Amino acid sequence: MRFQAPRGTEDVLPGDSPRWQRLEQTFRALARRYGYGEIRTPTFEDAELFLRTAGATSDVVTKQMYNFQDKGGREVALKAEGTAPAMRALLEHGLIQPGGAVQRVYYITPVFRYERPQKGRLREHHQVGIELIGASAPAADAEAIEIAVRFYEEMGLSEFQVLVNSIGREACRESYRGALLLHARDYLASLEPEARERAEQNPLRMLDSKDPEAVELMRSAPSILDHLEPSSRDRLDEVCRLLRDAGIRYELEPRIVRGLDYYTETVFELQVTTIGAQSAIGGGGRYDGLVEQLGGPPTPSVGFGIGIERALLALEAAGKNDPDDRPDAFVAAAGEAHRDEVLRLARALRHDGFSVVSDPEGKSLKSQLRQAGKLRCRFALIVGDEESQSGQVSALDLDADSQERIPLADLPARLRR
Ligand code: HAM
Repeated sequence: MRFQAPRGTEDVLPGDSPRWQRLEQTFRALARRYGYGEIRTPTFEDAELFLRTAGATSDVVTKQMYNFQDKGGREVALKAEGTAPAMRALLEHGLIQPGGAVQRVYYITPVFRYERPQKGRLREHHQVGIELIGASAPAADAEAIEIAVRFYEEMGLSEFQVLVNSIGREACRESYRGALLLHARDYLASLEPEARERAEQNPLRMLDSKDPEAVELMRSAPSILDHLEPSSRDRLDEVCRLLRDAGIRYELEPRIVRGLDYYTETVFELQVTTIGAQSAIGGGGRYDGLVEQLGGPPTPSVGFGIGIERALLALEAAGKNDPDDRPDAFVAAAGEAHRDEVLRLARALRHDGFSVVSDPEGKSLKSQLRQAGKLRCRFALIVGDEESQSGQVSALDLDADSQERIPLADLPARLRR
């Protein structure tokens, strides 16, 4: 039997990994410039962690969680999102204290959700994300949004939307839920009992439902912005002012409500129109109550997660070229007698920082040159009798299809050119 990667998962092969590495390096460097330190948490957690935070009514928990009993009878779940595990870890290690200093963490992590796979929607996907912990001012919300935007700018993506909204505090959402239920009364009555119950438990989810009827109905739905308390409205206005000051183009989109239950006040999403239905290339918001839900002190916080696979799809659609990860040179022996020399030359060039390959099997020169072409090496460096005697190599520029003799001492400088 031939095995296949499980449905909804993807292998990253050597030809793909330079794009992943560039993305991760860009994100790490950016997070560092904003003062964020990396946090790594386990691949699985107590399932209750996600239940209590992401929410008992969210799809992520009710339908998509990879939870199971381990051999000790504990109910565990693969990481369903990155925020709650990070807060659990910081609390556990005493790094969140009442009135403590603001903390900044970032992560690069796999995330598991049992979804129906399609383009840009996987059962194991990966996220880069940040959390700004213990900061309640609107400037913290703006900082998080700014980092997400700068990330894509630095990756070279220019066409994306920044959608910002506020879902207010609990009292506001309560009154808004009532208004939505009233607006959707007939639609709800037409649903199957189970779907109706789910919608009634969390009416805000109707706002990003994919059901065409719901989409149509939500176009004329009341806006949550009309239900915000003055303090929430002021926060939203201030976040928007700070974004404008940072030169960030955004749109207010009252239908952005997010799929996890822990959000309060500011929420945001980055979207593109170029990668199909799964258009959210990042999202986040404020989650002022989450740490308390885990038994910690009041800790207003904000953060975001960006899906790596979707980010790569968006970059590809925008024609952003892959980073060049070709070897610099293939060193080839023209005859058995020169194999040791070739190995020594490869070693010396690697010591100088070049990426160099050679043939381990003692194949013919013709075969070695074929390998060089297949690997898309920039140069083939040939060592034969004449080269060996004169302290030179024959350098075949495989892009220009030209050849020259180069003294060994000049080789690093020539390759660098
Ligand atoms: P989320 O919106 O569920 O938020 O996921 C963040 C991003 O991960 C999405 O915008 C999308 O790019 C990507 N993503 C989500 N699900 C999938 C999937 N099935 N396949 C591929 N990509 C996917 C969170 O997870 C929050 N923890 C973000 C956050 C951090 N909020 C505050 N701090």
